[in-house]
Amino acid sequence: TNDIIARAVEVLKENDQGAYTVPTKGLYPFQWNWDSCLTALGLAHYDEARAWTEIETLFAHQWPDGMVPHIVFHVWNDGYFPGPEVWRTGRPTATSGITQPAVAGFAVRRLFDRARDKTLARERASALLPKIDAWHRWFYETRDPKGEGLVAIIHPWESGRDNSIDWDDAFERVPTEGVEPYIRRDTLHADPAHRPTREQYDRYIWLVQHFRGLGWDNARLHDASPFQVVDPGFNAILIRAAADLADLAQALGDTAIAAANRARAEKGLAAMERLWSDAQGQYLCLDRITGKRIDSASVGGILPAFAAIPTARAQALAATVERLAANARYVVPSHDPGDPRFDAKRYWRGPVWLVSQPVTPISRQAIETTENYGGRA
Ligand code: DGY
Repeated sequence: TNDIIARAVEVLKENDQGAYTVPTKGLYPFQWNWDSCLTALGLAHYDEARAWTEIETLFAHQWPDGMVPHIVFHVWNDGYFPGPEVWRTGRPTATSGITQPAVAGFAVRRLFDRARDKTLARERASALLPKIDAWHRWFYETRDPKGEGLVAIIHPWESGRDNSIDWDDAFERVPTEGVEPYIRRDTLHADPAHRPTREQYDRYIWLVQHFRGLGWDNARLHDASPFQVVDPGFNAILIRAAADLADLAQALGDTAIAAANRARAEKGLAAMERLWSDAQGQYLCLDRITGKRIDSASVGGILPAFAAIPTARAQALAATVERLAANARYVVPSHDPGDPRFDAKRYWRGPVWLVSQPVTPISRQAIETTENYGGRA
């Protein structure tokens, strides 16, 4: 174990750029939103002040409307596409124009609870609290315009599960005409057989150009997007973050932020029931444009174990994971190996991702002993 910890610290130090950490050198040379928040949890094990800085750096680039972008392009680097010249969001430091799973509320609460330096934690968490609250408000205002309690993603990259089978059908509606010529960089760093296809990239870029054409005005993007998908994993992360932020606000004496986030979490949890599938024994995505659920058994529908879902749902998810474990070498695969569309090598179409492991139930017992909070185990 000591050896693994020492090596993990080495990796973090190697990727540390001073005030933020790159997910990996080469393929991802900037600051990524959810990667950074999870990285902060690792940093806290050996440098608490640096862990707080990681999240502060991200929030220093929050948009005036409350959105926290998925990439902050701190430095110039031509090893990544699409770079700032494609996004053109007009921010003082270049950023992308879409967001990512809202793990910050969860991460900050955890940093706070585990802090050895309580004075430091109080000071740094207090400053982040209203910013994270503004982000949560932004989600429900702009991505849930009808007030259903569930937010939609408008680009697959927002989910963090870039090329999941979940998006295939909805993605058919995204055109590829008019995509400006481009050269991918990802396939220089990683095996193309693992990465998204050319056709998917055309659609990723079409959406970026489309949103750019609308001036990155979040009051318009949701309704104007041909891709609007309600992802149970994404919602569960937001719900958990809202509940965690409510607890943190309570501890810091901010009752208004506590109440607002408690209400968001409760409404979201109730709305999640719409996504439950008895047939699949898990939650499913909902295509907001067709109003239909998407029949695709991915880890996104198991991730809700991260939120305080009803016990019966958590138990059914545990049974699903056990069924998957019978067919898979490692759990939880990003997609059900029993589905003919499963692809063992292509990122989110089959492989297991470490980032989704701490938050997915590894056994019925894990769920039951943590009262649905798989992530706190
Ligand atoms: C990429 O470029 O592969 C990223 O996942 C987008 O965030």
